[in-house]
Amino acid sequence: MIYLVTGGAGFIGANFVKYLLGTHREIQIVVLDSLTYAGNLGTIKEDLKDARLTFVKGDIKDSKVVDGIFDRHPINFVVNFAAESHVDRSIENPQVFLETNILGTQNLLDAAKKHWSTGKDDHGYPTYKAGVKYLQVSTDEVYGSLGATGYFTETTPLDPRSPYSASKTGADLIVKAYGETYKMPVNITRCSNNYGPYHFPEKLIPLIIKNILEGKKLPVYGDGSNVRDWLYVEDHCKAIDAVVLRGTVGEVYNVGGHNEKKNIDIVKLIISTMRQMLEEHPEYRTAIKGIAGQARNDISYINEDLITYVTDRLGHDQRYAIDPSKITAELGWEPETKFEDGIVKTIRWYLENQDWVDEVTSGDYQKYYKQMYGKR
Ligand SMILES: NC(=O)c1ccc[n+]([C@@H]2O[C@H](COP(=O)([O-])OP(=O)(O)OC[C@H]3O[C@@H](n4cnc5c(N)ncnc54)[C@H](O)[C@@H]3O)[C@@H](O)[C@H]2O)c1
Repeated sequence: MIYLVTGGAGFIGANFVKYLLGTHREIQIVVLDSLTYAGNLGTIKEDLKDARLTFVKGDIKDSKVVDGIFDRHPINFVVNFAAESHVDRSIENPQVFLETNILGTQNLLDAAKKHWSTGKDDHGYPTYKAGVKYLQVSTDEVYGSLGATGYFTETTPLDPRSPYSASKTGADLIVKAYGETYKMPVNITRCSNNYGPYHFPEKLIPLIIKNILEGKKLPVYGDGSNVRDWLYVEDHCKAIDAVVLRGTVGEVYNVGGHNEKKNIDIVKLIISTMRQMLEEHPEYRTAIKGIAGQARNDISYINEDLITYVTDRLGHDQRYAIDPSKITAELGWEPETKFEDGIVKTIRWYLENQDWVDEVTSGDYQKYYKQMYGKR
């Protein structure tokens, strides 16, 4: 089987590539990634040594690049992770979100349709090669925001609130339209907030870990009461794999962690867990960046005084919570990683991989970081 994994140098895409290489022997993967600030070859540098992986630097909006990949490789599955993914950035500059997330998706669909279609059936609909599928990796944010109760199911009306979620909704609708109009074999997965290794440190969990190690304040939006449903990234990769291989064509599958947490509780948990890990394993203290006027071994500064409440995100959705019972019932998938274990694994990974953090946070990201958080 030959997979085209777009955005495979980003957080979830790279974890998916590693998952596929680790679990499927007979596989070829083509990664297409334009390497924005969020995509880094360093994330997949070990995987690039594997003969089963081919990397193409290019834009999903570029039809020549995408067509070229389909010409050279008989792709079976497209798994589209490539996207602009940060809500704050979409509030600053919506256009690139619409271009990449909607038009990029349409370009991938066009290429797949062209290369997979084999003719027409009696009703004039295109027919397709056997064993092909396009999977769109979407988000629970397309459903909007929940109050204190209730869950998003696959039939919850789409009600996006941010430019990011609106662009992901547009992409979902164009995928659905290709499924209906051209009878293309498609699936959409909508997952909750992921966490785990290789998460770019502008998102909540890796940002908090990074700031603690740098002795910086820990910015929490509003009063910290916003709730997200956290899913360990490897569990998400398993869900996508199941949908690619066994999902019913045309269906949407929600993927969630059964793990709702308030932002403020996440931040407090990271503080206490990190402090405990650094107490029990002094060798990890080398990850501390060195705080002016303080001995490197002194970790007493790691406490809740670091928390600072900052002006809330515009239009900040209050609560997301996924009902994943459809994927559990149909495909037998369930989240396996308890949050308490996943967060320890994640923090340990960051303590052991500060080189990666330094590498990905040099350059453009620094400018952005100053602009967004420096003034607070
Ligand atoms: N991270 C989450 O918690 C989460 C939750 C739900 C859904 N999702 C969705 O999952 C997907 C992956 O998310 P992520 O967190 O890994 O994102 P990410 O920002 O870490 O990675 C995105 C990747 O896409 C690449 N990319 C961006 N624009 C591109 C373009 N025009 N052409 C080619 N490559 C391009 C980037 O270089 C990067 O490698 C996204 O579609 C996102 O909407 C993420």
